[in-house]
Amino acid sequence: MKPREIKPGIFSVGAVDWDRRLFDELIPLPDGTSYNSYLIAGGDKTALIDSVDPPLCHMLEENLKAAGKPGIDYVVCLHAEQDHSGSIPRVLELHPGAKVVTNPKCKGMLIDHLQIPEERFIEVGDRETLSLGGRTLEFIYTPWVHWPETMTAYLREDKLLFSCDFFGSHLATSDAFVTDEATVYEAAKRYYAEIMMPFRKFIRKHLEVLAELGINFIAPSHGPAYDNPAFIIDAYRDWASDSVANEVVLPYTSMHGSTKEMVEYFTRALMARGVTVKRFDLARTDLGKLAMALVDTATIVLGAPTVLGGPHPLVVQTAYLAGALKPKARFASVIGSYGWGGRTVETLASFISGLNVEVLEPVMVRGFPRESDFADLDKLADKIAEKHRSL
Ligand code: FEO
Repeated sequence: MKPREIKPGIFSVGAVDWDRRLFDELIPLPDGTSYNSYLIAGGDKTALIDSVDPPLCHMLEENLKAAGKPGIDYVVCLHAEQDHSGSIPRVLELHPGAKVVTNPKCKGMLIDHLQIPEERFIEVGDRETLSLGGRTLEFIYTPWVHWPETMTAYLREDKLLFSCDFFGSHLATSDAFVTDEATVYEAAKRYYAEIMMPFRKFIRKHLEVLAELGINFIAPSHGPAYDNPAFIIDAYRDWASDSVANEVVLPYTSMHGSTKEMVEYFTRALMARGVTVKRFDLARTDLGKLAMALVDTATIVLGAPTVLGGPHPLVVQTAYLAGALKPKARFASVIGSYGWGGRTVETLASFISGLNVEVLEPVMVRGFPRESDFADLDKLADKIAEKHRSL
């Protein structure tokens, strides 16, 4: 079957990974993913943008054959992570005259990770161009979306941006383009939360640079392409902005019901004060849903029982994740119970010390909560509602 032609002479030759359910042995993929690769036929030269994850290399090979363009002159590598670069060595084997076009940092990574020989590379600088004959690729460095070497490629005449991970979504679909914006929004937000959120400040700068290009089409390397780029650019602007929602994200676990009782009471207390609560039972939750909730929330409250003198490991994992993903939340606190003592609050605080949050007075109780403990939860809910009103 001939691969899809997303624009005249531009073929989508990558692979849809319908059944994959985990990325990096960590990130849930409820809707699978895709590794998009694009073949561009210019008047003189043919370029391939990115490749696919090695287990699906055979699909790339089949699609390249079916595209009917016998020779590849350039393999453009926008990002060295193996889900996009891992099949490049096979492409180079099949096309001995092809050169890998990338930036010096990415070149170094490809040599380290894939052992591609030095002589197979052409280095390009930021805003440098490469002519394919009637079609011009302009390379724009966009570090940290998602690694430090990442760049994008803008096909000037078509006003088409190849963005690799940037604007991507983990979504296996038969659609080449976005057809159902609600579904793609959810998948793209999940992707942003898990992959892009730590790099919010870089993203804001990149969006400014890209705004000057007049892009009318975005082809990412995961998920469907955007023929209405404003849809995803506006979403990224919102997610990467400093504005937060009147929400509390409340991840918790409970062993014998004391912390759960506090979480139940606290949820109702926040609701009564007009604050939206997004609650996650950590023993059962999808980490991606939790990450998505962290994108916009003003406040994070961890519900943590004490185990062996410290926080329950599921809450430790969440605090570590929140510290690593760096959401834009402004406030944080801890509620929970203990049997005889422990350093639950101090330990959790150390994991989120990199966040720019004001820590609100935690509520830790010995055993099952009493009336005075519920009063303290009311006080914490009052404080959160007041802080949110002041934003
Ligand atoms: Fe899709 Fe950072 O690789």
